[in-house]
Amino acid sequence: MGTPTELTPDLSGLPSPVAAAAKAVAQRIQQGGTGEELISELVDLGRLREEELTDHRASGAVFTPYAVAEELVERVAIGPGDTVCDPSVGPGVFLLAAAERKYRHGESVPSIARNLRGIDIDPVSVAVARCTLQLWAAWRGGYWSPMESIVEGDGLLETPQEWFGNCDAVIGNPPFLGQFKSDTARNKHRSGLLKERFSHRYTGYIDESMLFVLLGVELSHKNSRIALIVPTSVLGSESSRAAREWIDQTAPLKAIWLGGRSIFDAVNVDVSAPILGGSRSSQCEVLRYGSKQPLQFTAPPIGQWAALLAAANGTPQVQLASQHNLSDISEVSADFRDAYYWLAKRVTEGQIGDCRHQLATVGLIDPFEFMHGNVEVKFAKQRFQRPVVEIEDQPPQPLRNWLQRRLTPKLLVASQTRVVECYADQHGDVLPSTPLITITPRDPSRLWHLLAAVGSPAASAWAVSASAGTGLSQGTVRLRASLLAELPLPMSSKLWDEGAKLARQIQSGDRTHETMVRFGETMNKAYKTPSEGLLGWWISRIQKKRP
Ligand SMILES: C[S@@+](CC[C@H](N)C(=O)[O-])C[C@H]1O[C@@H](n2cnc3c(N)ncnc32)[C@H](O)[C@@H]1O
Repeated sequence: MGTPTELTPDLSGLPSPVAAAAKAVAQRIQQGGTGEELISELVDLGRLREEELTDHRASGAVFTPYAVAEELVERVAIGPGDTVCDPSVGPGVFLLAAAERKYRHGESVPSIARNLRGIDIDPVSVAVARCTLQLWAAWRGGYWSPMESIVEGDGLLETPQEWFGNCDAVIGNPPFLGQFKSDTARNKHRSGLLKERFSHRYTGYIDESMLFVLLGVELSHKNSRIALIVPTSVLGSESSRAAREWIDQTAPLKAIWLGGRSIFDAVNVDVSAPILGGSRSSQCEVLRYGSKQPLQFTAPPIGQWAALLAAANGTPQVQLASQHNLSDISEVSADFRDAYYWLAKRVTEGQIGDCRHQLATVGLIDPFEFMHGNVEVKFAKQRFQRPVVEIEDQPPQPLRNWLQRRLTPKLLVASQTRVVECYADQHGDVLPSTPLITITPRDPSRLWHLLAAVGSPAASAWAVSASAGTGLSQGTVRLRASLLAELPLPMSSKLWDEGAKLARQIQSGDRTHETMVRFGETMNKAYKTPSEGLLGWWISRIQKKRP
C-alpha cells in the first residue's frame, strides 16, 4: 500500500474546521504509519460539518454514527464489485463503511472508488464526502480519485439517469421531513413536482424519507439490496401506505432493522430501516441494532410492515377474516379543530350531579370506563376536575350541526393507546374533544355489540399490528378513525351477543379478573381467534393501565 506522491486534497468548498482537519489527515497519510484509527479521523470530518449546522430538524441533516453505517452495510452484504449508492450522502459515512467492507473483501481501491455513488442537496456536505473518500482511497490504496460520482443535487428530482436500475446496493439515512409541521413541510411547488414524479405513490403527508425509499427501489435491479433509515412511524402510517404497497410488489420487504430511539445525538426519533430486495418470501426477519440474533416471523401482508414490528414487540399475530367491518354498521370519525375551538370557549368546571354535558378528553377514556370526576384533566391549557360544556341557547349553525351528530349514543375511543381503550356513551350526552375517535352505530341498539368488538383482545392486536411505531412512545400506537373504520367484525352469533352482555357488565363496574377473562375468551371465540397468547397479552396490557 503506497501513498500518492502529491497528496493535496481539494479543500475548496469545505468549512474551515473541516479543511484544517482534512489537511492534517492528508499530512498523516503522506507521512505513512497510519493505522485503523484513521477511520475515526475521517468520520470526524463529517462530525465537524454537523457541528456547523444549526437547525438539524428543519434541514433533516442528522448524520449517522459510523457503527450504524457499518452494521447496515454488513446487513445488506455489500461485496466486491457492487455499485453502492447513498441518495442523501451527507458527509459520506455509509459510502466510507461500504468502501471499507469492499476493501476487506479484496476489491481494489480504484474499482471501489469507481463503484461509489452519492448525491446530496447540500454542496458543503458533498465537498466533505468527496474529500473524506479521496483521503480514504489515498490511505488504503495510494490512489487519488476524483470521486466524480458524488454529486450535488436533489436526490428525488435530479439523480443522474444512468444510476437508475444500476445500483447493486442503496443505503443511507435520508432526511426525515414530517409533513405535519410547518418548518419541515414541503412547499407547494415542490409538492407539485414530487406528485408528478411519484404519481399514485405520493400523498401530501408522506414523509420525505419514504420518497427516498421509493427512489432506492428505482435505482435498484432485481438482485439489489436496499436499506434506508426512516422514522419508525412510516412503517404503519397511512400516508405511506401506497408507497409500501408498491415497494412490496417491486422489491419486497425482507427484514426490518430496528435502530431505536437513541442512535442520533442531535434528535430523539425512533428509527428503523426496511431492508428490501429479491423476491417475496413467506418469512421476514427483525434485527435489532447491535444484536447478532435476528428474529423470524411470518411475512406480513403486502404493505403492512408495522405488523412485523408489532410481532417483534410481542403482539400476537391475528388474522381477522370477515365480510363486515366497522364502517358497514357505524360512522367512525374524528373531530376537527373547529370543534375544539368551540369547546375551548365553553368548557367550565362542573359540580357533582351537574346536568350540563360532560366533556370527554383522551385522558378520561380508559378501557370500558369514563374517568370524569376521578382524574384531573388538562383542556385548552386549563386544568379541570369535572369539565362540563356550557352551551348557549342559540349556538351558531355549524356548532348546532356538530352537537346534533355528537349528542347520540356512541363509543368514544382514545387515540394514543397500548390496547384499544373505549367507552360506550349510552345516553349520548358526553361531548368528545379532538383527538378522540367517535364511533356512532347506525342502529343504537347495537352499541354494546360494538363495544364488545372494538374493546376485544382481537381488535387490540389487530390495531396495534396495523399501526405499530406510530405512537409517541415505543409501547403505544396512534389510532386513526380511517384505520378503525376497517376493523373486521365477527359474524353475528350467540358468542358476540354474550360478549356484548359482558362488555356492558364490565362497563357497569364489574371489572374483576374473572369477568375480563370471560369477556376476552368469549370475544376470541366470536372472532374465531385462538385465545392462547392473545388473552394474556391483552389482560397484561389492560392491567398496566389500571393496576
Ligand atoms: C439525515 S442526513 C444523513 C446524511 C448521511 N446519509 C448520513 O447518514 O450521515 C440527510 C441528508 O440529506 C440531505 N438532503 C436533504 N434533502 C435532500 C434531497 N432532496 N436530496 C438529496 N439530499 C438531501 C441533507 O443535506 C443531509 O445531508
